[in-house]
Amino acid sequence: MPDIPMDKDFEASVGASDATEGVSRRGFIARAGLGAVGLCYAGAVAYPVYRYLAAPAEQAAELAAITEVKIPEEKMPSPGTALMFRFGSRPTMLIHHKDGTLACLTAVCTHLGCTVQYQPEQDHIHCACHGGVYDARTGANISGPPPKPLQRFNVERANGQILITRA
Ligand code: FES
Repeated sequence: MPDIPMDKDFEASVGASDATEGVSRRGFIARAGLGAVGLCYAGAVAYPVYRYLAAPAEQAAELAAITEVKIPEEKMPSPGTALMFRFGSRPTMLIHHKDGTLACLTAVCTHLGCTVQYQPEQDHIHCACHGGVYDARTGANISGPPPKPLQRFNVERANGQILITRA
């Protein structure tokens, strides 16, 4: 089959067009690749920041959704001890005082959020992080840096269960 003669300008323009298209395609792929890497990097940085900022709001919403916790009587702590449990996502303690009374308080320090411990010898709640001390019956501040009392919960005993509700 004979060659079809082509105009030199036409050949040049076709060649130039293919070359331009090739560079353009490679450029597009390179840019898309860089964009995908950049997107992954931005996501890797932004997601932990989002989780950090959203966590208190999510925890507050979760806590608000939970109105009561039931603990079977057989899990009642013996007098002079405390039972740690979770009210939603929050560590909470049910204290059985030596005089037989019960108190339920959040176990999250109001200073910087450390988990506090019941000290039966002093009948206090102590935060080991910075020495905060609370009343083990009311959650009121006694000493140290915590700015607010511990949150209290209502405690009722009925039908073989200990019912913990918001105060
Ligand atoms: S976190 Fe409890 S006293 Fe600072």
